[in-house]
Amino acid sequence: MSTAYFKGDFMPLEAVRVSPLDRGYLLGDGVYEVVPVYGGRMFCTDAHLDRLERSLGAIAMKSPLSRSAWVDMLDTLIARNGGGEQSLYFQVTRGEAPRNHAFPQAPRPLVFAMSKPGHRRAYPEPMPAVTRNDNRWGRCDIKAIALLPNVLLRQEAVSAGAGEAILLRDGLVTEGAASNVFVVADGVLMTPPKSSKILAGITRDVTLELASAAGIPCEECDISEAALRSADEIWVTSSTMEITPVSRLDGRPLIGGAPGPLWQQVFERFLAFKSDFAKALGETIA
Ligand SMILES: Cc1ncc(COP(=O)(O)O)c(C=O)c1O
Repeated sequence: MSTAYFKGDFMPLEAVRVSPLDRGYLLGDGVYEVVPVYGGRMFCTDAHLDRLERSLGAIAMKSPLSRSAWVDMLDTLIARNGGGEQSLYFQVTRGEAPRNHAFPQAPRPLVFAMSKPGHRRAYPEPMPAVTRNDNRWGRCDIKAIALLPNVLLRQEAVSAGAGEAILLRDGLVTEGAASNVFVVADGVLMTPPKSSKILAGITRDVTLELASAAGIPCEECDISEAALRSADEIWVTSSTMEITPVSRLDGRPLIGGAPGPLWQQVFERFLAFKSDFAKALGETIA
């Protein structure tokens, strides 16, 4: 049974009881993070906690825990769930209050955190993707728990036999239903720039860093639908999917085949980065 954190205590996940008046439950009024754990250690902790603070600020909330209290709580959660490879999920909602769209006078933010054991394959399988119209709201930079459009778009992908929906807004690629998107054309790695139209993915930043370090030319630029369809390689990145190559787009195989040569180069660096990171704690990645 896994251990969760709720209302200041550690407890079995099954013992967590949320009030039906919690604004997260009723209104989707909250934000969240997902952090991979390698070798018992959170990956890119500061980047995730910085983003959590940005998301909270964007919904007019302050972090209910200090930076060191977050780290202590999450480290304890990792240890209580056996260390090794995990995926942490944590959220902050505006808490329990009589149902009303406007904020309560004295909100009592609620923190919930849980861990899933991670059993990632060393090498992700190339995955089919489909394109869909990006019909989400205008603040996709906030990691909001209200994910209904993303849920419906991901389900459309799954129903079509694919693993991800790549989203297009006004003829340009934005991101995936739960990932960022990279495209390779003529040896250049491209990804849409950070804006309110996408979530600033932590894995996106790591991917750009590793690719630049490998000497691959990288551009944060608009990617048209035509450029997506004629790409040599397409990758989707997230804390959960890491860097996954796309095998087919809307049923058509990628021009360069999958996985492509640039993906292989960057993914090798990603594996080395993860393994160095885990070794710093003296554990090895299974
Ligand atoms: C919409 C969306 N974009 C991008 C990402 C990738 O973010 P990260 O790499 O920080 O996991 C996610 C992750 O869940 C997401 O939901």
